[in-house]
Amino acid sequence: METISCLNLSIQHAKIKEEIFAAFEKVYEKTAFSGGPFVEEFENKFASFIGSKHAVGVSNGTVSLHLAMLALGIGPGDEVIIPANTFIATAWGVSHAGATPVFVDCDAATWEIDPSKIETAITSKTKAVIGVHLYGQPFDVDAVKSICDKHNLFLVEDAAQAQGARYNGVTVGVFGEMACYSFYPGKNLGACGEAGGLTTNNGKYLKHIQSLRNHGSVERYYHDEIGYNYRMGGLEGASLTVKLNYLEGWNNRRREIASRYQKEIANAKITMQAKPSYSDGIYHIFVVTVENKEAFVKHLSDHNINAAYHYPVPCHLQKAYAHLDYKKGDFPHSEYLASHCVSLPMYPEMTDEQVEHVVNVLNKF
Ligand SMILES: Cc1ncc(COP(=O)(O)O)c(C=O)c1O
Repeated sequence: METISCLNLSIQHAKIKEEIFAAFEKVYEKTAFSGGPFVEEFENKFASFIGSKHAVGVSNGTVSLHLAMLALGIGPGDEVIIPANTFIATAWGVSHAGATPVFVDCDAATWEIDPSKIETAITSKTKAVIGVHLYGQPFDVDAVKSICDKHNLFLVEDAAQAQGARYNGVTVGVFGEMACYSFYPGKNLGACGEAGGLTTNNGKYLKHIQSLRNHGSVERYYHDEIGYNYRMGGLEGASLTVKLNYLEGWNNRRREIASRYQKEIANAKITMQAKPSYSDGIYHIFVVTVENKEAFVKHLSDHNINAAYHYPVPCHLQKAYAHLDYKKGDFPHSEYLASHCVSLPMYPEMTDEQVEHVVNVLNKF
């Protein structure tokens, strides 16, 4: 059997190549390479997919988080609470705005931000909480939101891994002041290139973000504030519009694969992410934990399965944040996860035979 990788982008892109190339041709003919009508078309379609009033396309997910902080007026001297177990870019958004990320542990079972840890992390400097729908599974939105409401904090959703995930039947991305997305090629909805976006129901944020991403300018060559070049490219926008039509189908196929993993993998040595009743995730990544990670990964590789690690070092122990003086032991659940996590193959084009092979190999470990 051919090696099954954790992610395979080529099968999907081969299938939609003609449609994508036809979309590229239109961009090329109009030379609408930066922002413009193809980005706007995607923004409108994405807003209706999410169920938000507005969407803004930007150049990647990291800058979407930066822009969210700026639009909320968050800057030097402010603190923003985020989970220690996330991709580092959640923290970058805060740091790029000049504010300080304050990490909290994840829940031992759901691996998402632990709402019970948030209140003790709040200080007079806290301005916001960024909840991350990690691995494509919603965090406990009601619990986090009620803490934010009680303490007058902004809630921002990092939905970079969760385009189309549902919390109690509602598509995530509408619960906070705004939500941030990555359309990095490997994401469930990934551009042919780098891209990101934001959704919000608040027109005030929309205008500000649109201006900030475009050199702080509404009228060309008039700059109201210090801005950025964070625009989305036309080719990226056009590729995203094509792919958005497929997203629900791709997400459903991931749900099917995940459900087989959840039902058919029966091995006491392997622990999966708990799936609370409110959660209808999209399984961007399928993470398990095992005590003996090296032996497990060798067993997988001996049986033609490539694994990956999301994420081997929790944010609070990254060198980049050494100056914040966190130490090993501060967030035991995030640290456990970092040293025991293994991501299984997960992409919509996996065949039933490949899924079965993964199940059998895991059950034999
Ligand atoms: C949770 C999370 N937040 C933010 C980002 C940043 O997105 P990008 O890589 O598009 O900058 C990512 C992407 O990897 C992510 O997974």
